[in-house]
Amino acid sequence: MMVCVPQVLSKAEVTEFRRVMGGAEWEDGRSTAGAQSAMVKRNEQLPPAGDTARQLGERVIRALTANPLFMSAAIPLRIFPPLFNRYGEGHHFGVHVDNAIRGDHLTGMRIRTDLSVTLFLSEPDEYDGGELVVEDYYGSHEVKLEAGDLVLYPATSLHMVHPVTRGVRIASFFWLQSMVREAHARSLIYDLDTSIQGLTRELGRDHAEVVRLSGIYHNLIRHWAEV
Ligand code: NI
Repeated sequence: MMVCVPQVLSKAEVTEFRRVMGGAEWEDGRSTAGAQSAMVKRNEQLPPAGDTARQLGERVIRALTANPLFMSAAIPLRIFPPLFNRYGEGHHFGVHVDNAIRGDHLTGMRIRTDLSVTLFLSEPDEYDGGELVVEDYYGSHEVKLEAGDLVLYPATSLHMVHPVTRGVRIASFFWLQSMVREAHARSLIYDLDTSIQGLTRELGRDHAEVVRLSGIYHNLIRHWAEV
C-alpha cells in the first residue's frame, strides 16, 4: 500500500527549510548507503549527524505526529531521524531495496524498516526527472509530489529515483517501524479507519454503529500491535 499525505509541511515551512539547507554543507549520499545501494546511488545528503539535519528532522517528526492521516496509515512505533538529500542534474538512485535494520549512532535507536517515507521539498516544476519509482504487486508507480507532501511505501519494495535532467530535487527521506508489522494488517486497519472517519462525518461520532466500529478498530490494533 502506498499512501500520499498532502501538506505535511506548509509552503512557509518548506521555504524556511530550503533557506536553512541552502546555507549547509552537503556530502556524498553514499555515506548512508548499504553495499548494494552504494553502487547505484548518486546524490548528495546533509551529514546525518549534523546540526542542520537533526534540527530540521525534529521539525519533520513534530509535523508527522500532528498529522492524523500519516498516523493512521503508518501507526508508527519509532521514526528514524529524517535525512535530507539533493539530486542535481545527472544525479539518480538506481533500483535498490532499503536495509532491513537501521541504527542511529547518536541516539542508539535501532529500528526494523517497515515503511519508507519521502517528503518532497522541491516543487515539481523546479526539476525534470527525479520521479520516485516504487514497484509492488500491481506494477511500478511513479511519484512526484508538491513540496510539503509525502509518500509512504513499504520498505520491502524495490524502488529507484529517475535521473534529474534539469534543476534540483530536494527531499527528506526516512524509515519507520510500525506497531503493526504486517503490511496487509496495516492496510486493513487503515481502510477501516478511513471508513470510520467517513461514517463519522455522515452519522456523527455518537452513532451506535460508529462506536461499535471504533471498538473493532481498537481491538484489531490490540490484536496486532507490538509496543
Ligand atoms: Ni531507498
